[in-house]
Amino acid sequence: MPEKQLVLAAYEEFTPNFVNHTWHLPRSISHRYSELGFWQEYVRELDAAGFDFLFLAEALGYPMTDDGAVPDAVIREAVQMPVLDPVALISALAATVDRLGFVVTASTTSQVPYLHARTFTTLDHITAGRIGWNIVTTDQQNALTRLLGMDAVVPHGERYDRATEFVELVLQLWEGAWEDDAVVADKAARVYADPAKVHRIRHDGRYFSLDGYFPATPSPQRTPTLFQAGTSDRGKEFAAAYAECIFTSYRDTASAAAHIGDLRARARTDGRELVVLNGVSVVVGDTTAEAEAERADLDAAPSRDAAAALFLGWTGVDLSALGHDTLLADLDPQGSKTTFALWGDNPATPTVGALLDQITSESGGFKATGTALEVADQLEAIARDGDIDGFLMECTYGGIESHRRFIAEVMPILRERGLLPAEPRGGSLRERLTASATPRLAAPHPAVKYRH
Ligand SMILES: Cc1cc2nc3c(=O)[nH]c(=O)nc-3n(C[C@H](O)[C@H](O)[C@H](O)COP(=O)(O)O)c2cc1C
Repeated sequence: MPEKQLVLAAYEEFTPNFVNHTWHLPRSISHRYSELGFWQEYVRELDAAGFDFLFLAEALGYPMTDDGAVPDAVIREAVQMPVLDPVALISALAATVDRLGFVVTASTTSQVPYLHARTFTTLDHITAGRIGWNIVTTDQQNALTRLLGMDAVVPHGERYDRATEFVELVLQLWEGAWEDDAVVADKAARVYADPAKVHRIRHDGRYFSLDGYFPATPSPQRTPTLFQAGTSDRGKEFAAAYAECIFTSYRDTASAAAHIGDLRARARTDGRELVVLNGVSVVVGDTTAEAEAERADLDAAPSRDAAAALFLGWTGVDLSALGHDTLLADLDPQGSKTTFALWGDNPATPTVGALLDQITSESGGFKATGTALEVADQLEAIARDGDIDGFLMECTYGGIESHRRFIAEVMPILRERGLLPAEPRGGSLRERLTASATPRLAAPHPAVKYRH
């Protein structure tokens, strides 16, 4: 019996064309992304298969240049546009399945803590404790200024200062505003809640101020299960302080193990353990050759224009305006340092041209390609050597079509090896993913200091 069992999540965005840029392939079904039935079919099959959760990534805007122009390729090829609101989608899907969890991204740079806290409490109520929040600090500076009308572009380091204050404030609302026994719901006494046990919160900080009561009664987890994916030094410091689960996108096990080891060590100094999920794209074939041919088709699917637009969206760096011989080392991105470094520090792609070629075949995390047995072997080795606790399963053809062969052919092998639980995990998202014995956050998480 292996020491730990893998956590499995489907990795999506509410868009027809996430990560792999394959919506136009004959087998792809993601052009139906705006139909509720597309998602309902998806989550029903994930739920039945024993996936732990669906993760909906979220971007505030779409790729645009500093002067607000949107490259034609963005609209023509659906590069992070169109994109719809994932929170609204989760509300509908929560009623479709009653076991699968949901994790959704929300940005501390664009949201208002009070409203954000209420939205996630609502989601936690209606999912009965199955919601997680992926905390991001938003690297889309142009979206912040041009679409949301925010005055200042917040530099990378300062975004994490703001994130820290944001998270401390929402933790206080979730954990400290209502005592556990504040809701009485005594009809005979006409007492819905005990005013002595509902507390006024006062916060006057550098970025946010609030003076009032939190209007949402405590939900099963109170604080949603906390995820984070920052990989810069500040990002890691923040993740180690607050996150329970981490998303990474490594493509080789040595880099994954080094990064994840560093994160775990930081969290352990505070007595906390982290659960780490890395992206993986799976292609299963009847033979190795068949799977490799399919992988080659998928790798060749995105156009160079789409690659440049995608990169613009990730980093704010417009490669389409640069000569293909430009050295990446000469660029200084103010946007997402880590995403840029992941590509820009690679000696195999020293120039813009080389990078564009690479992006068309490599985005996301690991690639597991082969027969069902070979894929199971590859995933087992990646998890072991990369120090990874689970996988974010990337879409290949969109929707459930991305995962059908994995579910039917690979999951039974992983289950037989003891790498997946015999029965799907249930309960709150927190209990399912972490060692927590209750739906609530436990000490030594900093949230507990706000409890009464
Ligand atoms: C697997 C994974 C998922 C991510 N999902 C999102 C997302 O949904 N929205 C977003 O704005 N950023 C997302 N990010 C970006 C990270 O939040 C973070 O900004 C990025 O890794 C850069 O790290 P840094 O902020 O430490 O420089 C994701 C990153 C990874 C690795």
